[in-house]
Amino acid sequence: MCGIVGIVGREAVAQRLFDGLKRLEYRGYDSAGICTVQNGEFERRRAEGKLENLARELTVEPLYGDVGIAHTRWATHGAPTVDNAHPHIAGPVALVHNGIIENFKPLRDELLADGRKFLSETDSEVVAHLVAREIERGASPTDAVATVLPRLHGAFAIAFLFKDYPDQIIGARMGAPLTVGYGQGENYLGSDALALAPLTQKIAYLEEGDWAVVERDRIQIYDRANQPVTRVIVESGASSARIEKGNYRHYMQKEIFEQPIVVAQTLQSYVRPFEGKVALPDFDFDLSTVNRVTIVACGTSFYAGMVAKYWFEQFARVPVDIDVASEFRYRQPVLEPGGLALFISQSGETADTLAALRHAREEGQVIAVVVNVPTSSMAREADLLLPTHAGPEIGVASTKAFTCQLAVLAALAANLARAKGRMSEEEEREIVAHLQEAPEAMNLALGHDDDIAQHAHLVAPARDVLYLGRGPDYPMALEGALKLKEISYIHAEGYAAGEMKHGPIALIDDLVPVIVLAPSGPLFEKTVSNMQEVRARGGKIILISDAKGLAEAGDGCVATIEMPEVHPLIAPLVYAVPVQLLAYHVAVAKGTDVDQPRNLAKSVTVE
Ligand code: G6P
Repeated sequence: MCGIVGIVGREAVAQRLFDGLKRLEYRGYDSAGICTVQNGEFERRRAEGKLENLARELTVEPLYGDVGIAHTRWATHGAPTVDNAHPHIAGPVALVHNGIIENFKPLRDELLADGRKFLSETDSEVVAHLVAREIERGASPTDAVATVLPRLHGAFAIAFLFKDYPDQIIGARMGAPLTVGYGQGENYLGSDALALAPLTQKIAYLEEGDWAVVERDRIQIYDRANQPVTRVIVESGASSARIEKGNYRHYMQKEIFEQPIVVAQTLQSYVRPFEGKVALPDFDFDLSTVNRVTIVACGTSFYAGMVAKYWFEQFARVPVDIDVASEFRYRQPVLEPGGLALFISQSGETADTLAALRHAREEGQVIAVVVNVPTSSMAREADLLLPTHAGPEIGVASTKAFTCQLAVLAALAANLARAKGRMSEEEEREIVAHLQEAPEAMNLALGHDDDIAQHAHLVAPARDVLYLGRGPDYPMALEGALKLKEISYIHAEGYAAGEMKHGPIALIDDLVPVIVLAPSGPLFEKTVSNMQEVRARGGKIILISDAKGLAEAGDGCVATIEMPEVHPLIAPLVYAVPVQLLAYHVAVAKGTDVDQPRNLAKSVTVE
């Protein structure tokens, strides 16, 4: 995720743009930049790394001008270098962009063929060139933007600045947030209300496909059909302590819907799609010497680890132990030389996991950490730091951090398999291709939000709920049950479908909803047999499968939820979506506090 701020001001904007970036720094801090217009020319300062580096640049070479745009970057396309830092300039246009332009490659090829020169490796720069080309052909900024926006596929929030039109900024959004702010004789754009909080409390959230021409004394918003629209102006009430929910009702809902984007962003760091290779950040030990992996985590992160155990064993043929952190330290685990101890945590601060990490280090293990907060304690203590780029997760029940953890773990398993010589180049290419399909498949899964909301009434009255799955869908059943417990306070159990007959089947009656996760594939038939055992005893089944699976086994279920048909590798990422949405809608139906469920905390810093 990246942060965007723009000001069409009455006085110098650079310092205020910089202050806005500071408030967005949680969204990314690979590089940052500001561009203003001074005397009909662009003036730009950019710096790699944290904002303090940009601050230094601005001290050495101050920036003037009363209109400008600014950006803090979380690198997606292209390394976090100064050249790749935003704002990008193409002729008369400067731009900052948050998101991914999925069709940037053909657009770039088209522009290259047109003789245009690129100065960065980013997807964003193509947009600047497209708009610049329109303006150079005589279009106004408004017409140029209106022409170019429909050509962009993917998710974006963009702010455009024009050298020859210093009285306006144009902002556009599709799949990434953007707000406009209303001031006294000046107006603003920002990624969220938090960024604009010191400038104004009067903001409007742009809706999907909206774009806005922001001038000093007016803001005109257009919808995706280029029709002028009005959006409600609200009092943001944002303070520096808060991150906004945008148009969503709850942070958890927002975070569930962000998943395709943040998983794509995370994958950018771990796969090289054009080469068909997986990749890891730099580290200085030899992965091929790893002879055992010990995974330790808590809560949802633990279930990500359980899924990863299947992958490490299947792909790399390396034995895996897995423990919840609170048990690990106290069972005197045998940790031998050559062991990689892998800790998974959203916050990087969970006390049990941190203590387990330190114990593993004392026992001579190499420490790998999959973590969402790159400045956290666990991140600082890692030998191999594997960041998830989920962005700040506010909802206490983890959602997007979980699927980003899965993305990183799948890539790590493939890296390990390659290092151990257990995966051919062809197999690696296939894994990369399947991982690249995950964000779009998750998008399709999100498309079933309305159906899932309808099914929530089947679950909301229940006292007990069972979730069943096999293979990697067994931990997904556990995660589904945990989500439901956490936010709806309904007792739920996840079970390995084949283990049902050894006990839990005694619980089945027509009051117990049974959620079955069964993507079609190698384990489908066995899972369905276990499902029939439930049905024969009057259990109310909600089957989550793809069209093929539902056609084979959907009859007689009280409800079915259709997922896209995907490769088994990415099924856990995709099936996370319906179990999260089901828990969410049940909680909403029950009227619980979705984002701050009772007795829970986001970061558990006590043992
Ligand atoms: C708390 C949260 C869970 C989270 C767990 C582990 O219990 O409520 O959502 O999964 O901590 O947190 P971590 O930050 O280590 O992933």
